[in-house]
Amino acid sequence: MTSRPLANPAPAALADRAEFERAALEGLSRAPRAIPAKFLYDARGSQLFDQICELPEYYLTRTETRILHDCAPRIAELTGPGRALVEFGSGSSVKSRLLLDAMTDLAVYAPIDISREHLDATADKLRRDYPGLRVEPVCGDYMAIDTLPDSVPDARRLGFFPGSTIGNLTPDEAKAFLLRARRLLGDDGALVLGVDLRKDPALLHAAYNDSAGITAAFTLNLLRRMNRELDATFDLSGFAHEAFYNEEEGRIEIYFRSLRSQTAMVAGWRFMFAQGERVHTEYSYKYDIRTFAALVDGAGFRVGHTWIDDESLFAVHYLVAESKVD
Ligand code: TRP
Repeated sequence: MTSRPLANPAPAALADRAEFERAALEGLSRAPRAIPAKFLYDARGSQLFDQICELPEYYLTRTETRILHDCAPRIAELTGPGRALVEFGSGSSVKSRLLLDAMTDLAVYAPIDISREHLDATADKLRRDYPGLRVEPVCGDYMAIDTLPDSVPDARRLGFFPGSTIGNLTPDEAKAFLLRARRLLGDDGALVLGVDLRKDPALLHAAYNDSAGITAAFTLNLLRRMNRELDATFDLSGFAHEAFYNEEEGRIEIYFRSLRSQTAMVAGWRFMFAQGERVHTEYSYKYDIRTFAALVDGAGFRVGHTWIDDESLFAVHYLVAESKVD
């Protein structure tokens, strides 16, 4: 066996690191401090998030899955044959399978995801499990994509955005996302969305403060990632996960909190943290039916159908494109 020199990091990895460094330094330099949630999802973060989805307190995933399972045949009927199914942030396309099972005459399934590796592995599996289904993965940031590549054939489009991910955007960002999706899906487009509902704050609190501590590990993984990738010196025992429901804003707010006065280096810069100081990582907005309808109105859609579970925990909306755009 010949020995080969260690490969240099791929240019994409270097660009990722530079982006993470810029975002972390910028986010820690402003008041109040915040680091964008997308950096929570490195390999370990993604694994922890998968574990969150299985937690007894985290009702969102299983409730949405049950609703989708039940309403998928109706969605297939509403959309009609020959559609292109376009998923925003497909990950491993677990929930899309519920739609693929019900929509047997799709022209194409086009998952959009930022991770090339994830996308290709998932596409291979889907082609194996759904022979005859055309799968055209699109690598990119669904928050920035305006058009689909020519590899996706022309067909009426049905978008799919599950997981209440729209709740992780601020209402302004959510509106911008909907306008972009509206443009991408076209005048005869439709969009299926999963949205977490407002409910008893105790249930919300438990969903983001699980007793096994997985959500805490998920939040603190951001510090670990900075230590590893940005030569940071966070002492993980000096910080804690914090999540609470802000009733007025209708959102869960997630932070890591400094348990004592301390300093940490990040990429050569020293940051001081006061005791009790918080760094924001994520919002998770909860929308009742009326507030959500108001959000989509003026973003080029109207609510065509809504399905809700028996306990009114979660909603799946079927949005129809409207000509009226604010
Ligand atoms: N879309 C998920 C949600 O809002 C994301 C999420 C779940 C999350 N648990 C989290 C994000 C904990 C940060 C921390 O429910």
